[in-house]
Amino acid sequence: MQKIKKAVFPVAGLGSRFLPATKASPKEMMSVVDKPLIQYAVEEAISAGITDMVFITGRNKRAIEDHFDKAYELEAMLAQNGKDELLRIVRGVIPRNVNCIFIRQPEALGLGHAVLCAQPVVQNEPFAVILADDLIDGEPPIVKQMVNVFERHQCSVLGVQNVPREQTRQYGIVSSVNLEPGVDRVLSIVEKPKPEDAPSTLAVVGRYLLTPRIFHHLTQIQPGAGGEIQLTDGIAALMREEQLLTCRFNGTRYDCGSKLGYLQAQVAYGLKHPEVRDDFAAYLASMK
Ligand code: UTP
Repeated sequence: MQKIKKAVFPVAGLGSRFLPATKASPKEMMSVVDKPLIQYAVEEAISAGITDMVFITGRNKRAIEDHFDKAYELEAMLAQNGKDELLRIVRGVIPRNVNCIFIRQPEALGLGHAVLCAQPVVQNEPFAVILADDLIDGEPPIVKQMVNVFERHQCSVLGVQNVPREQTRQYGIVSSVNLEPGVDRVLSIVEKPKPEDAPSTLAVVGRYLLTPRIFHHLTQIQPGAGGEIQLTDGIAALMREEQLLTCRFNGTRYDCGSKLGYLQAQVAYGLKHPEVRDDFAAYLASMK
């Protein structure tokens, strides 16, 4: 039985919806309360037993490499000043048994192209793809829920969620038949359909478990919607050869690639944060 040990984090996008914040620093380093989006994503992977983190980076992404590197001066300063709790937080960003690998995507040619850049490291193993700007709060964490499906069926699994029909243009949309509670078999998948053309309202969100055969298809496909190499088109080709499942995960998703979703995440995570939740709740109540 195969296990998922590697996760790919495509972080080479331009983040244009968040300009000017993303002019010189990556979208994935924007924080929700006190933690960058990319760290939430890595923690989700760790909780699913994944140990190799493969970041597909582009221009202006140095901050991500630095975040997951050892910070000697900072650690020395915290130790010297007796700031033990902060030292523990800084050292805990990456556990010792976890490896970080960085690959450069030379041009932002699309999500499918970004995933293809991971092939030399992933090679012939099934792997996860996690989009850090889709922050999903769930217990167990969403990738863990999907790994449970993968381990039973040994095939690719897409994280999906129902969206309002008027939003189908923003997502890959699947049509499917039910297999077991929460798990469907995909019959077709189409990228960013118009609401009137969408085969359903079941949208693929930023979590994928894929077999390595996807790399073959990503090398074959032509640029699709928006002139980019679309991961969805590669998955559509994969589906013609292999079983493809969806997992309707339990959890709340915040689209942190959009301003509204990002603000909603700040409120939801602020109201859970042990340090600030009471004062923040009182502040919000006082605003009514
Ligand atoms: P988005 O569609 O959200 O694009 O990419 P973006 O560039 O990040 O943001 P906007 O739309 O300009 O505001 C989805 C994911 O795919 C990655 C992005 O980093 C994001 O995590 N991506 C996209 C790449 O890594 N490379 C690409 O060529 C395109």
